[in-house]
Amino acid sequence: MLSISQLNAAYDGSQILRNVSLTVPERQVVALMGRNGVGKTTTLKCIVGLVRPVSGDIRLVNTSLNGFRPDERARSGIGYVPQGRDIFPNLTVWENLLISLVVHGRKANGEVDRVLELFPVLKEMLKRKGGVLSGGQQQQLAIARALLTEPKVLILDEPTEGIQPNIIDQIGDTLVKIRKEGKMSILLVEQYLDFCLGVADSFYVMDRGAIVAEGPIANLNEGIVRKYLTV
Ligand SMILES: Nc1ncnc2c1ncn2[C@@H]1O[C@H](COP(=O)(O)OP(=O)(O)O)[C@@H](O)[C@H]1O
Ligand SMILES: [Mg+2]
Repeated sequence: MLSISQLNAAYDGSQILRNVSLTVPERQVVALMGRNGVGKTTTLKCIVGLVRPVSGDIRLVNTSLNGFRPDERARSGIGYVPQGRDIFPNLTVWENLLISLVVHGRKANGEVDRVLELFPVLKEMLKRKGGVLSGGQQQQLAIARALLTEPKVLILDEPTEGIQPNIIDQIGDTLVKIRKEGKMSILLVEQYLDFCLGVADSFYVMDRGAIVAEGPIANLNEGIVRKYLTV
């Protein structure tokens, strides 16, 4: 579905990504893991078009995205929930959802209701301002908004960061449900190991801008965790 090959990226001449290659197969959840500062967010920004790589190829269902602007990538089927969410705090929950449809030139027919089924807590809060929601609710709103565009690949950057455990479980359950529906692939950047073990099919681990381990999630062993993931 999504494949990245030999991606190199730099900020102001200092190299950040080193020959990063990864594949997100159809209908699967792939976890991209690693400590702070290793290049996970930069990898995602290259995919969504916010950082221009020095070299490398990014393909969505065999179409190269290389020359595409971020909005063109979104319309091609890349859904992105950035780190720290970024919903509109002064718009209501309902308006936050609608704006996603407007931006993508879609009419609100069944989609909003269907997405709200996945996040019942949002249904009770449609008239509240986004800014008054808890961190976990804002994260759910950000994911709901991305789902409304019916992406081929949903990209999530640390969705559990700073969120209380019961909401983390709800978000995990939702990702498992989305995976079961089989309509999209998910690329999940995440440092919370148990969350990855609960939802992912396969994993990649990054260190200093390079992929240093990968495989089916069952192969994520103690040695890898100790060497590259625990602080
Ligand atoms: N806009 C930027 N300008 C310069 N350096 C940056 C910028 N964004 C991130 N970096 C640096 O790039 C490296 C990788 O950052 P990032 O991709 O955000 O890592 P991660 O998401 O794994 O924590 C870090 O050393 C970070 O300080
Ligand atoms: Mg990051």
